[in-house]
Amino acid sequence: MSRTSIVKVLKSESSPGEIQVKGWVRTKRDSKAFSFIELNDGSCLANLQIVADATLDGYEENIVHLTTGASVAVTGNVVESQGKGQRWEMQATAIEVLGTADEDFPLQKKGHSMEFLRSIAHLRPRSNLFGAVFRVRSRMALAIHQFFQDQGFVYVHTPIITASDCEGAGEMFRVVTMNGDEIKLGDDEFFGKPSYLTVSGQLEGETFACALSDIYTFGPTFRAENSHTSRHASEFWMIEPEMAFCDLERDMDMAEAMVKYLVSDALENCADDLAFFGKFVDKGLIERLEFVRDRPFARVSYTEAVELLTASGQGFEYPVEYGHNLQSEHERYLTETQFKCPITVYNYPADIKPFYMRKNDDGKTVAAMDVLVPGIGEIVGGSQREERVDVLRANLEEHGLSEEDYDWYVDLRRFGTVPHAGFGLGFERLLMFVTGVQNIRDVIPFPRTPGSADF
Ligand code: 4AD
Ligand code: MG
Repeated sequence: MSRTSIVKVLKSESSPGEIQVKGWVRTKRDSKAFSFIELNDGSCLANLQIVADATLDGYEENIVHLTTGASVAVTGNVVESQGKGQRWEMQATAIEVLGTADEDFPLQKKGHSMEFLRSIAHLRPRSNLFGAVFRVRSRMALAIHQFFQDQGFVYVHTPIITASDCEGAGEMFRVVTMNGDEIKLGDDEFFGKPSYLTVSGQLEGETFACALSDIYTFGPTFRAENSHTSRHASEFWMIEPEMAFCDLERDMDMAEAMVKYLVSDALENCADDLAFFGKFVDKGLIERLEFVRDRPFARVSYTEAVELLTASGQGFEYPVEYGHNLQSEHERYLTETQFKCPITVYNYPADIKPFYMRKNDDGKTVAAMDVLVPGIGEIVGGSQREERVDVLRANLEEHGLSEEDYDWYVDLRRFGTVPHAGFGLGFERLLMFVTGVQNIRDVIPFPRTPGSADF
């Protein structure tokens, strides 16, 4: 008999009859004549209740000794549950123990700290919280593809190893080969020049947008910034759409539409998991997500944002000053206190932004935009790209970059240049927003952060 998933059993309209389920024992309660086993297979949050009669084969030898964490295959009949809280339960006719669990299985009791659970990242997906997080992660990946593919965007795989520092921040991991302990550099360098793990697929994405019009990337990106915050990881995933024949206005519209679409998809398709987060992780979650889905985002220019922050009279740790980056505390004040909704901030000073952003007519600002959301701050960063070859060349020079290294990028402006724009959505930041989980380490299966690359 082939295995039926527990989610399928629990969502059945009528009893599926005699079937087999397989999973891990969450808890077991024994009475004189039978045991109740709460079985979970990760297909959904809920457990399937198994009634194991004392007359079952192997009951005394095996079944009564089952402990939390053990794995079993259960054959039986799905019947209407007598108990409260579930519609279906299973009356076992045979239980095969696949694997017992040693008594030091760490997920016995509830109430472990998130820090402790991170130290057992190989077992934490078996907890309610992490099972839910990673089901939502999977669903959101699908929804991202759906969002773009429905609009005719082409999915492009940009390289993970690259020679260019898209963001120009120099916070990159270098790729080297080794001969024993000796690292090969210079003339021995594997690719003939220094290469790195990509910080962004944008530049390569632009080449494809300048051929296929609407494209997106969705893949891992790497940053060697030494940030010990709850919102930065050294390895994270980014979604980067790039649109030809597109200006900043449409770019902002796209980013807003995408965030709304994903929130709406999660509310619709991850209802049980979100309800769990709403109960145990973040009480205001569902209300906030519905609000985000239903209401437009606010939009302010960087200059207006600085004015609002200055006028707020708030004592910030970092002073607000025109020409400086907005700090996380500023971003959060704007979205949480000032506007009480997601906001898009646009037209940042050119001096604090990378070389590829399009210069505005004022000569001071660039057509950049960030989407900020309550609880997190920046979730999207994007811009219209500089499509004028002379201005781009000047930008490269201003940023101390050589045209030689970016000749292919400049070529896009020499051969049929077009206005184009795009953005990057941090996948993990989106997941934090959708689940209410506070630390980026808890929405990544095996997080990599400064000083930590376990598993
Ligand atoms: O704002 P960023 O640096 O923009 C870019 O990389 C552009 N090339 C995107 C583009 O226009 N195609 O990064 C984009 C987003 C941020 O808004 C944030 O959500 C996320 O990526 N992000 C991080 N997420 C987790 N850990 C980090 N260290 C992150 N750095 C950026
Ligand atoms: Mg940014």
